[in-house]
Amino acid sequence: MSNFEEKQKKTANRLGVPFEKLPRHIAIIMDGNGRWAQERNLPRIAGHQEGGKTVEKIVQHCVDFGIESLTLYSFSMENWRRPKLEVNSLMTIYSRYIVGTHQTLMKNNIKLIHLGRLEKLPENLQTELLETIALTANNAGMILALALNYSGRAELVDAMRKIAKKCEDGTLDINDISEKCISQHLYAPFFPEPDILIRTANEKRISNFLLWQISYTELYVTDVFWPDFAENDLEEAIKDYSKRTRRFGNINPEL
Ligand code: IPE
Ligand code: IPE
Ligand code: MG
Repeated sequence: MSNFEEKQKKTANRLGVPFEKLPRHIAIIMDGNGRWAQERNLPRIAGHQEGGKTVEKIVQHCVDFGIESLTLYSFSMENWRRPKLEVNSLMTIYSRYIVGTHQTLMKNNIKLIHLGRLEKLPENLQTELLETIALTANNAGMILALALNYSGRAELVDAMRKIAKKCEDGTLDINDISEKCISQHLYAPFFPEPDILIRTANEKRISNFLLWQISYTELYVTDVFWPDFAENDLEEAIKDYSKRTRRFGNINPEL
């Protein structure tokens, strides 16, 4: 029995859901840091700091629950439009998180990967990301994918460029461009697609996240702001997911 399976069985029992109905890959649009701060008359950045603490907690819960992959939308390419001070503070928070999390990643056997364009990120953050990716490359536990300077459309542009280049230099035939081929040219090739996409702070939109990968992902929106998102909220999302019937275009297989 794999390490995941043991934890998944315990989680399924504890939550009273069938083992096969547990999500294996959870993606989260972590939203509402600003509103959380605003409600408390605090600067927006205080919300981001608190949101960072939530990331630490939720990563640990996902490990304990036996989740195989967790993808966190941390900074979109569109987020560069925010005031410089907020953007700079966010970059400092990511940097601190990544360096400060090494022990946790190693202790829990977590493999860190990055989704997005590295180039535009501050140099120190690029180095820290690359070092952490290398450090955890052989870990076989949960995959933690940080979408940092990520855009779903840009990911597709980048994939198309890689594919076009291969066609141009003759290593790929146009007739071999398939859905599988496109998936394999995304930022994380061979990465399973999310089973559930959670968005906090009650926004009902995708905001340019994982456009290709979520074609059949189950969507779950909660009005809880990200800094307040806790273990029980994660459990609620998992329970809700376990009641869904995923048809993938077919008729209901359970009828
Ligand atoms: C999400 O919280 C964090 C990032 C996008 C970096 P927001 O900062 O978007 O919070 P709201 O939406 O303004 O409340
Ligand atoms: C999406 O949240 C990006 C992240 C959570 C990193 P936003 O707060 O930027 O999304 P919009 O602008 O409300 O769509
Ligand atoms: Mg927001």
